[in-house]
Amino acid sequence: MARRISEELISEICNRNDIIDYVSQYVALKKSGRGDFGGLCPFHNEKTPSFHVSQDKQLFHCFGCGASGNLVQFVMRAENLDFVDALKVLADRAGIIIPEEDDFNDENHEKKKKILEINKLTAKFFHNCLKDKDIGLTARNYLIGRKISSKTVTAFGIGYAPKSKDALLNYLKGKGYLENEITDASLAVLRDGKTIDKFRDRVMFPIINVRGDVIGFGGRIMHNNKDVNGYKIPKYLNSSETAVFDKGKNLFSLNIAKNERKPEIILCEGYMDVISTYQAGVKNIVATLGTAITPDQARLMMRYANEILICYDSDEAGIKAALRAIDVINEANGKSRVIKLKGAKDPDEYINRNGIERFKEAVKKAVPSTEFKLSLIKSQYDTSTTDGKVRFLDEAVDVFKTVQDPIEIDAYITKLAQDMDVNKDAVLSRYKEKAEKDRYVSNIRMRNAVTERRPERLEAGGKVHNVPPALIGAQKRLLSLIAGNKRFYNAAKKEISPEEFSKDIYRRLAQKIYDCYENGTNPQEAIILNDFCANDEEMNEASSVFYNMEVYTGDTNVIYDLIYTIKIGKIQMLIDNETDAKKLMQLFGEKKQLEDKKNKWEGQ
Ligand code: GTP
Ligand code: MN
Repeated sequence: MARRISEELISEICNRNDIIDYVSQYVALKKSGRGDFGGLCPFHNEKTPSFHVSQDKQLFHCFGCGASGNLVQFVMRAENLDFVDALKVLADRAGIIIPEEDDFNDENHEKKKKILEINKLTAKFFHNCLKDKDIGLTARNYLIGRKISSKTVTAFGIGYAPKSKDALLNYLKGKGYLENEITDASLAVLRDGKTIDKFRDRVMFPIINVRGDVIGFGGRIMHNNKDVNGYKIPKYLNSSETAVFDKGKNLFSLNIAKNERKPEIILCEGYMDVISTYQAGVKNIVATLGTAITPDQARLMMRYANEILICYDSDEAGIKAALRAIDVINEANGKSRVIKLKGAKDPDEYINRNGIERFKEAVKKAVPSTEFKLSLIKSQYDTSTTDGKVRFLDEAVDVFKTVQDPIEIDAYITKLAQDMDVNKDAVLSRYKEKAEKDRYVSNIRMRNAVTERRPERLEAGGKVHNVPPALIGAQKRLLSLIAGNKRFYNAAKKEISPEEFSKDIYRRLAQKIYDCYENGTNPQEAIILNDFCANDEEMNEASSVFYNMEVYTGDTNVIYDLIYTIKIGKIQMLIDNETDAKKLMQLFGEKKQLEDKKNKWEGQ
C-alpha cells in the first residue's frame, strides 16, 4: 500500500506515544533495569519472561521468539493491523488527526469523520431501542425465535430501528446534525420531497471495520417479505455506499475474526450465518455485504489468514457464487477450500439443526477448490460411458490452468487417470496442449520464482554466496553503534558506504542512519524502523539490530575493527569461491591493501 502519511507526522505520532504505557495494556511489565522492563511475551506462550521493552529506545524485543520492533510494529502485531491502521490507532490515542490517504482535502476528511460519528451514535441508538422494554419487544422476540442470546446481541451491537419515519432523524437532529449529513450517512432518504428514516422496523446489524469504526448497517425485516399493501419489500436493506462505506472493500465481522488469529477464515454469505456460528464458538468467520466477493475482499482476508474456507449456501446460486469466489481468491494469489453442508440451506440453519460439532467436522473436511471444481464437472457427465469419460476429462483439464502448484497438478492428473481408468500420459498431454496454448505454464513459473524465499546471500562479482554468521554479527553491531553515537558515525562514514553492507535490510538501515546525520539530526532507532514493516521477519530483523543492551562509549577503534571484519570477511568469501587466477590475484591485492589500512588504523 502506498503510504502518503508524511514522515514528520509519523514521527510526531510515535513521539507522542510511550511504548511502556501502551504495551502495559497487554503485558504486566516489571522494571528490570534502567529504562528496561520485562514480562511474559504476548506473541508466544511462555512461563518465564523473555519479553523486554526499552523505554530509552522505545523498542520491544523477545529473546524467546525473536519478535522485535517499535511501538507501531507492536500495535500491528497485537491488533493484527497494517502499518497505516496501526498508526491511526496511535494517532487517536495522542489526539492527532491523520489526513486521509486518498486525499488531503480537509472537507472530505471532515465529512468522513462526521459520518463515523453519526454512525456510532446511531448504532447506540438502535441498540438502546432493542433493549427498550416496549419499543424493542417484537425485535427481541424475533431474535429469541432465531436463538440469538443477549450476549451475542451485545457482542455484535445488534439493534432495532423503530417503526417510525423520524425516530432516528429526530434523535440525531437533537444532537446537532443536519438532515443532509444524516442523508450522506445513508441513514435517511428523500421520499415525496420529505426526508425520512431509511431503516424502519428492522433488526439492525452494524458493520464495523478492522479499526473498530461503524461504517454502515444491514437491516432485516422480521416478517414475510410483504408490506401492508402486499408489495414485496427487501428482506435485507443495507446502507448505500457512503464516503466511509464501500461494500466491496469490507467484510462483516472481520473486526472479530481477525483477532482469532486462525490460519483460516471462513467466508459465508449472510450476517445471520456469521452470528450463529460465532455464538456457537467458531469466531473466525466473516460474510460479504450482500454482493459477490471482490479481489479487494480476498486480499483483505488474506492479510489475516493463510486460507479462506468458502461456506456458501448449498443451493445452485450458492454453488455458482462459490465457483466465482474460488477464482477471485485464486487471482488474488490466495488459497481456498470449500465447506460442504448437506441437508441445510446455510450455516445458520445447519448449526441450528445439527449442532456446532457437526459443523466443525464439515469444516475439517473442507475440500480443496480444485477437487470441488472437478466433482462439479463430473456430476454433469455420465462417466460410465466412453463418450462421457472423454468429455469429462476434456473439461476437467481446463481446471488446472488456474492451479499454480505443478505438484498439485500432477497429483490430480494421476488421480483422474486412475479414476477414469485411462493412461496418465494421455491426460497429461491433453492438459499440456491446452495449457501451452494459453501460455499459463510460463506465468506459473514466473509467479513461483518471485515468491520463493532465499537464505541470506551476498551478491558480488556476479556470483551469490552464503554469508557467514560472524560477518552478520559485525554488521549489526556496527549499525547499532553508529546509530547511537555521532562520533562513531563520523569514523565509519569515511571507511564504509551503505552499499558495502551485505544485505538489503542492512544497506537500507545504513542509508537511513547516514541520511539522518547528513541532514543534521540524530537518528532515532524507533523512527527508522517505520520503514521496515513489510513483514514480521523484516521487522524482527531490523529491530534486533538496535535492541541490544550495549552502551558503548569507548574509543573509535572498535568501529575500525568492525569495518575490517566486514571487509575482510567479504573478500575472503570471494577468494574462497573464486577459481579464475586473474581475479584471484586481484582479490589478494585488495586483501593486502585492507591489511595495510588496518595497520594504519591501529597506529592512529
Ligand atoms: P436470514 O434469512 O436472516 O437467515 O438471512 P441470510 O443471511 O440467510 O440471508 P440470505 O442467504 O438470503 O442472504 C445472504 C445475504 O445477502 C444477506 O446477509 C444480505 O447481506 C444479502 N441479502 C439478502 N437478501 C437481500 C435483499 O433483499 N436485499 C439486499 N440488498 N441484500 C440482501
Ligand atoms: Mn439464513
